[in-house]
Amino acid sequence: MSDLSENHWAPRRYRAHDRAELALALAPDLEKLYPGGSSWLCGRLDDIEAGRARAMVVARPGALYGVAIETPKEPGRVKLSTLWVAAGQRRLGVGSSLLRRCRRGWLAAEVERVDVTCATVVGPALAPLLHASGFSLERVDRDRYGEGRHEMVYSWFAEADLEAPGRPRLRAPTPPPCK
Ligand SMILES: CC(C)(COP(=O)(O)OP(=O)(O)OC[C@H]1O[C@@H](n2cnc3c(N)ncnc32)[C@H](O)[C@@H]1OP(=O)(O)O)[C@@H](O)C(=O)NCCC(=O)NCCS
Repeated sequence: MSDLSENHWAPRRYRAHDRAELALALAPDLEKLYPGGSSWLCGRLDDIEAGRARAMVVARPGALYGVAIETPKEPGRVKLSTLWVAAGQRRLGVGSSLLRRCRRGWLAAEVERVDVTCATVVGPALAPLLHASGFSLERVDRDRYGEGRHEMVYSWFAEADLEAPGRPRLRAPTPPPCK
């Protein structure tokens, strides 16, 4: 049951000292999903440290529980390039707390659209979480990394999210102009 709150897991910004632990924890799963996954991860961590991308982590002393890596694209658009939780920490709310924290950042930064691509093998776990966080399936890229290795592309739109009933609002409504 993922009933532990964002405050409990306290996602925070990635810092350079997280690098070794993150690479060690995440690279094996990435390698299984994508050819060259480890070197791709090194490149993303370089991007984060150079300010070209950003990441939120859930960490405890000596352990990295989860990460969300985001890459800004054109203005108003972001790619969520990785959402990952360590195998021993799943179904405890880590992934949803990371997504909630990212969503707050998107709304605060007036991001209009976020895309995330996920392998079909990850879909059964990731899709319900993405749907609950306001993402919807945009398209399926068939055989993207070889036969049968389809990728699903999910998108989140700020406008639709803010209009959906029951979603927490983060920005006060714009006051009417002064006369
Ligand atoms: C998908 C993933 C991020 C979910 O993280 P998590 O911390 O376990 O997610 P949460 O505990 O916040 O779960 C939230 C909801 O998502 C859904 N969910 C999560 N895991 C699920 C699973 N295995 N099967 C079905 N639904 C699942 C449920 O609706 C869940 O709510 P519930 O626990 O109250 O039923 C995690 O399973 C993961 O990292 N998988 C590997 C993904 C990967 O390889 N990423 C790298 C490439 S991008």
